[in-house]
Amino acid sequence: MCGITAFRGPSAATRAHEALARLEYRGYDSAGIAARRSDGTAVHVRTLSGVAALVMGLERDPDATTAAIGHTRWATHGGVSERNAHPLEDCGGRLYVVHNGIIENADVLRERLRSAGHRLATDVDTEVVVHLLEEAVSVGLDLGRALADTAALMEGSWAVVVLDTRTGALAGTAHGSPLILADTGDGVYLASDVGAVAPFVSAFRVLEDDDVVDIDAEGTRWHRAGGSRRPRGLWPVPAISLLASSGRHTDHMGNEIDEQPIVARRVLDALSPGIRDGALWNRLGLPPLENVDRVAVLGCGTSLHAGRALAGVFARAGHLPTRALTASEAGHEVWEPRTLVVAMSQSGETADVLRALDGLPSGHATVLALTNNTASSLARRADAVIDCLAGPEIGVAATKTFVAQVLTGACVALSGLWSSPRADAATLEADFTALAGTPDALSGALHAWRDRAAELAGDLVTASGFLFLGRGAGLVYAAEGALKLKELSYRWAEPHAAGELKHGPLALVDAGTPVFVVDDGDPRLDVDIAEVQARAGRVIRVGERSLRVGGLELQLPRRGPSWGPLESVIPLQLFARELALRLERNVDKPRNLAKSVTVA
Ligand code: AGP
Ligand code: GLU
Repeated sequence: MCGITAFRGPSAATRAHEALARLEYRGYDSAGIAARRSDGTAVHVRTLSGVAALVMGLERDPDATTAAIGHTRWATHGGVSERNAHPLEDCGGRLYVVHNGIIENADVLRERLRSAGHRLATDVDTEVVVHLLEEAVSVGLDLGRALADTAALMEGSWAVVVLDTRTGALAGTAHGSPLILADTGDGVYLASDVGAVAPFVSAFRVLEDDDVVDIDAEGTRWHRAGGSRRPRGLWPVPAISLLASSGRHTDHMGNEIDEQPIVARRVLDALSPGIRDGALWNRLGLPPLENVDRVAVLGCGTSLHAGRALAGVFARAGHLPTRALTASEAGHEVWEPRTLVVAMSQSGETADVLRALDGLPSGHATVLALTNNTASSLARRADAVIDCLAGPEIGVAATKTFVAQVLTGACVALSGLWSSPRADAATLEADFTALAGTPDALSGALHAWRDRAAELAGDLVTASGFLFLGRGAGLVYAAEGALKLKELSYRWAEPHAAGELKHGPLALVDAGTPVFVVDDGDPRLDVDIAEVQARAGRVIRVGERSLRVGGLELQLPRRGPSWGPLESVIPLQLFARELALRLERNVDKPRNLAKSVTVA
């Protein structure tokens, strides 16, 4: 979950620190750096105040450091404290370790280490790694060998980097968590995400499970299963990984919300030329839809919501049976042959998604990865990959990646359906027209709601709970609105199918209870709304039935596109952010969360 960076070369601590700053959104419970100075002494600084605060501890000439490791933590084991912050050290203050993941057998290893006389000073699972390494190094093993032997004793998932401050050597290994290596010519980086080093290198290599790399004065050596010493292949750094949103807000999230029409335009410019002739689908190497009996989308959180919207395209425009699966529950599924699995993940590193793919029976399914990171573990595991082209999203709450995923998915699905006998030609035509109008619809929603969302947040700042209702294709946007509100404001927010209201949730409605209704034109919503108003609930209707163009009121078609009223997510995002700002929450870094959830 956390961010890992390491550098061996000149100004190592500075280089590891600046790369770490690019990963802070990955986890922000604590941060730390350990480095070796050129005079052979060690630097070890940790803080609960963010990556920037590490500079204070590094002030004694960080440029004179030759090797360094850095970490931003999202705690899984052991409280959030400076003592539990990584890098963690061995008994002798020689070895330092940063770790991403969970050591599942840490308790057993901890007992064994204690009886061997080690002093374990923290509550963190990771600490066993550094003491096991200490044992291995003390019997004369070199750092890479020591790390391989240590990893053989571990169960769980990890990306681990160790620094030997006596020699200035680094070693890294991975198992179920990402770790990449990039050579700059004057030094070598290790990092848990290519985004950390994107401005400094043009290509990188990915450690596969159980690879070990040694980086010392003699260079970089790879050790792979079967005894191979060949490095893994080079991947180019995707140019888009440099394109962070910028704008008038001081928080990333505000700029990312504003950028959504531009992102939509980028997706359509890139993908729509391949829809009407099926070229996009064919280019991805996906099987013709005649050979697909069902589509299963899987993902977590916002990506799962985007998947539900995409499932709507296959179902409504293509009459294909679809299922949307919460990735962490996919292990309970019975899989049928000829299934197209669309795995949705902006980070491409979500462990629940990767684990769900591991559980697929072989030969049953084709996997399409829809991700914002084409160099991710998910992308490497899938049969086909489509980039959702959102550019880096720094705010932990997904906004522009959601819009990009829905539109990318819609383009791919429509391209596959174009020549399919299953498809409904009139629906496809209507969808294609709606697709082209999406950037304007998103801009229109931004204009219409910016001030209104702020006013509303002022009115509702004391509300303790919120309901979000929708029907049909609108339901998934209600769910996304509720998720955004929870994440950002830490207030209760429940999404429900509007028809379910009378079966229970209506009991929550009292005078003034805020109820957001995503209106996709379903006339039955009027009845649902009346039921809320009869209890004096406060209804906020989102989603336009008409559009004002040059003083004229145009009625929108009653039936929206197959993916539903995408622009309705804008007011919900704006409202969640405005409310959170009024409550003095950090909208870029909601408490307890992290951008890349690499533990299952
Ligand atoms: C979104 O706002 C959340 N932070 C979260 O639900 C997220 O969508 C989920 O963890 C999935 O992440 P992914 O897209 O990187 O797989
Ligand atoms: N399990 C380790 C901890 O709790 C690492 C967690 C992470 O991946 O951030 O510190």
